[in-house]
Amino acid sequence: MSRSIGGVSVSDIGIGTWGMGGTSKADYRNDQDSVETLRYALSKGINLIDTAEMYAAGHSEELVGKSIQGLDRKKIFITTKIWHTHLHKEQVRKSTEESLKRLGTDYVDLLLIHWPNSSVPIKETIAAMEEMLKEGKTRFIGVSNFDVQQTKDAMEACRDSVIAANQIEYNYWNRGGESSVIPYCEEKGISVIAYSPINRGKIDGSDVLNRMAHKYSCKPVQMSLRYVMERSIPIPKTSDKKHLDDLLGALNINISKEDYNILAST
Ligand SMILES: NC(=O)c1ccc[n+]([C@@H]2O[C@H](COP(=O)([O-])OP(=O)(O)OC[C@H]3O[C@@H](n4cnc5c(N)ncnc54)[C@H](OP(=O)(O)O)[C@@H]3O)[C@@H](O)[C@H]2O)c1
Repeated sequence: MSRSIGGVSVSDIGIGTWGMGGTSKADYRNDQDSVETLRYALSKGINLIDTAEMYAAGHSEELVGKSIQGLDRKKIFITTKIWHTHLHKEQVRKSTEESLKRLGTDYVDLLLIHWPNSSVPIKETIAAMEEMLKEGKTRFIGVSNFDVQQTKDAMEACRDSVIAANQIEYNYWNRGGESSVIPYCEEKGISVIAYSPINRGKIDGSDVLNRMAHKYSCKPVQMSLRYVMERSIPIPKTSDKKHLDDLLGALNINISKEDYNILAST
């Protein structure tokens, strides 16, 4: 499997940061663990880090910034997201520039609209994001939590760019996207990034997943991640190095097409 966003190759799985450094506000207590886990992930070949201005009121971005200090920036692919109340032209600029400051970098690789907001014309937001592209503040732009029509509208609003990715909730327990937004993105060459790919750690309750995990001598959490990898780039979050090792184990599952189809149809 080879993954790319906007034609740039990225690791088969990325790492998410929701909950690192707090949730709705900053919490500095586990900073060291978070930075160590992110650095550990990078050392294991993960090069895609997902964050957002909203996570821990910006503190998650600061932790990402700390974790990449001293490393070769060009080898790391950072995604951040603009909150849905910041989608007017000047807000997009302010939000992006503040994210860059917290991340301690001159550019992000991918700048996403975190959630759609029908009260702000998509054309205005995309035009403002295209300015960020022109100024080199981001390499690619995209959307998150957009359905098919919203993604189409965003594509049509692009003048000098394309929507490189749509980040959606996608996991074995929530496969709604498989019959709607995923095929649309596949057709248009938009990368699908899967958030909550291991169902926020709640991985019980599927007999077929358990059976397949047994057959391939892996854990159900690994099988569930492997499933999602077939049609997306998952960005699981963990602050635990052992969990990260588990997640990386999903990369070695050589599932047959037949078994994938059994999982997909059950
Ligand atoms: N665009 C959006 O609107 C949106 C929404 C939600 C999330 N996201 C992004 O997607 C990322 C991932 O989604 P998520 O954090 O909601 O959920 P997730 O990745 O499906 O699950 C994370 C949870 O699973 C646990 N976990 C990780 N590895 C495990 C393992 N091997 N065994 C058992 N439990 C394990 C983690 O705990 P430990 O830390 O203890 O390992 C954490 O509680 C987020 O961090 C964020 O970057 C984006």
